[in-house]
Amino acid sequence: MRTLIKDIIKKEGEIVELSGWVSVRRDHGKLIFIDLRDRSGMTQVVFLPGNAEAHKTAEEIRPEWVVKIKGSVNRRPDNMVNKDMETGEFEIEALEIEILNKAETPPIEIQNDGYEIGEEIRMKYRYLDLRRNRLQKNIRKRAKIMSFVRSFLEKNDFIEIETPILTKSTPEGARDYLVPSRVYPGKFYALPQSPQQYKQLLMVGGMEKYFQMAKCFRDEDTRGDRQPEFTQLDMEMSFVEMKDVMELNENLLVEIIEKFYPEKKIQEKPFPVITYKEAMEKYGTDRPDLRKDKSDSSLLAFCWVVDFPFFEKTEEGGWTFTHNPFSAPKPEFINDLLDKKDIGKILTTQYDVALNGIEVGGGSIRNHKPEALLSTLEIIGIDKEKAEKNFGHMLEAFKYGTPPHGGIAWGFDRFIMLLEGEPNIREVMAFPKTGDGRDLMMEAPSEAEEKQLKELKIKFGS
Ligand code: AMO
Repeated sequence: MRTLIKDIIKKEGEIVELSGWVSVRRDHGKLIFIDLRDRSGMTQVVFLPGNAEAHKTAEEIRPEWVVKIKGSVNRRPDNMVNKDMETGEFEIEALEIEILNKAETPPIEIQNDGYEIGEEIRMKYRYLDLRRNRLQKNIRKRAKIMSFVRSFLEKNDFIEIETPILTKSTPEGARDYLVPSRVYPGKFYALPQSPQQYKQLLMVGGMEKYFQMAKCFRDEDTRGDRQPEFTQLDMEMSFVEMKDVMELNENLLVEIIEKFYPEKKIQEKPFPVITYKEAMEKYGTDRPDLRKDKSDSSLLAFCWVVDFPFFEKTEEGGWTFTHNPFSAPKPEFINDLLDKKDIGKILTTQYDVALNGIEVGGGSIRNHKPEALLSTLEIIGIDKEKAEKNFGHMLEAFKYGTPPHGGIAWGFDRFIMLLEGEPNIREVMAFPKTGDGRDLMMEAPSEAEEKQLKELKIKFGS
């Protein structure tokens, strides 16, 4: 039966069977050493000449070969203990070795942290890149946090609901990815920039407390903390006010840090709440970095930013929304919204949460009455007819007894990037896109076949 490498420390003197990858081989002639790696850790294996058959095989093996080794767990002499390895007080004396698969020399170095390797080659060979310790740690930590979030929310009576990927455009301020319909030539699905409308419609549907680890798609320029395809921790709740959503999310954020990053310090609890006006005046940004000591990598300065203006002027002199057309104004501005009066002064119920100067999440209480949504749409220059065409389903739904509701979404990748102290969101995603939006491993985007284009009735060129 297979033993995981991390467990050998409990098996001194026993014979174990290990499976994994060869990280390094050191051939000292008589003695051959390999560092063997599996998902749980690394250990040193020694091949002694007395064990002729295993020793002979060990002469042949190379890094990244996949092997199964039977050996005894021996305690190393004090002067041979490797303090950098969790299993460093022990080594395996190989009795038998079986080669499960050979490997060509990997095109990228796997033993180091990989920061200095070019992006293109790392992304092309992402499956090898993922083997490095740093990425193993990031991806595993991400999964553990995701699982913790799920159980936290389930304990709080939320249910996870998947919403469609083939859908209709939802404005979140970026360009949509479009998918042509074969059955309805000339018509397109849009990939969701967020599940915003669906989650609100789930509130109309009486679900009351929804969450989802939601894939979102935005055709915008990629940056260090932005990918065209990313994951949101998305949630929506009925019968809540701003403080309810903020409190629940703050508790979840704090619990994650305390459980998974006990070495880190949250600068201020409860998180400071500052207004947009104050943030802009004092820090010149709506996601201020409030860290008192920026040289301290373990300091986490969260803050909430509230009281954003609902609308801002467009270049053409009209109005556009600052965050989300579905947001409600703060209650004291509802009449101004309905009367379309003092538009520039209307404040929204939007709340953003920033961490060390980066926006990790944002949400709001929504307009749950059709006339308020209609008024918002009119202010941003969407007339009744266009509103009916694009948002008719929302306006219609809100006629049938919609509960007051609100929610939030975190940029989950971005949040993990910050906690792991990574410089780029790619380091915490299994298969990210390159800076210019390509998947070099799968070679996407790629040309479609003539037959597919024909079926879709798509023609290029003149
Ligand atoms: P918003 O557009 O602010 O709100 O997105 C929420 C959070 O998602 C993260 N984010 C991204 N992360 C990686 N790559 C991107 N391209 C990217 N774009 C955004 C940010 C951001 O704070 N539906 C609303 C939420 C709501 O109102 O409930 C929404 O999507 O961390």
